Amino acid sequence: MRGKFVTLEGVDGAGKSTHLDWIARRLQAAGKKVLVTREPGGTPLGEELRKLLLARPMHLETEALLMFAARREHLDKLILPALAAGNWVVSDRFTDATFAYQGGGRGLDLGRIETLEQWVHQGLQPDLTLVFDLSVEEGKRRRVAATSQPDRFEREDLDFFARVRAVYLARAERYPQRIQLIDASQTVDDIRKLLEDIILTHCQ
Ligand code: TYD
Repeated sequence: MRGKFVTLEGVDGAGKSTHLDWIARRLQAAGKKVLVTREPGGTPLGEELRKLLLARPMHLETEALLMFAARREHLDKLILPALAAGNWVVSDRFTDATFAYQGGGRGLDLGRIETLEQWVHQGLQPDLTLVFDLSVEEGKRRRVAATSQPDRFEREDLDFFARVRAVYLARAERYPQRIQLIDASQTVDDIRKLLEDIILTHCQ
């Protein structure tokens, strides 16, 4: 039986990385084999592309194309084989991030991103996407507290993150079966309780 594909999303600072490990451990405790990965990245080539993407200024279309180039490798080398082997895959970000950051944040036409999505995904969508939602002000406060050397995205202004957040919210509304919004202003314990319920529902 094919495994399940779970992706975590949200504006920088919303806390998805804190919850990623816990989700993976919770799934393992429920007897699942779990591959934890991230985007951009996941494969050796993808991690090289990540370094460029997070450091080098580039045309916004180049940025979107490199995100999908890394994703193509990721699907081919890691995600699809793991799912086919019956494993669960938990990815720190996936294509919703391209809609939110390159589409919302940078203003790239969403229709173009959809075209790339159809090309690269070949019909695959995550079974479950958790969007950790937080006000942009609180996100910034947490980012500043957590990172001394912000990357190219983390250095963007509040307006950029407001546009990123708006796209995540719009997508959660458009795909309610797949995307679950999580209020990331709650305590870590409260969020874990919520995640526990969501995961147990999906484990069946
Ligand atoms: P992030 O998960 O925030 O890494 P970290 O927690 O280690 O800082 O991801 C890196 C950045 O990449 C993040 O700012 C969002 C950006 N990104 C895009 O702009 N588009 C994409 O398609 C993806 C996958 C990520």
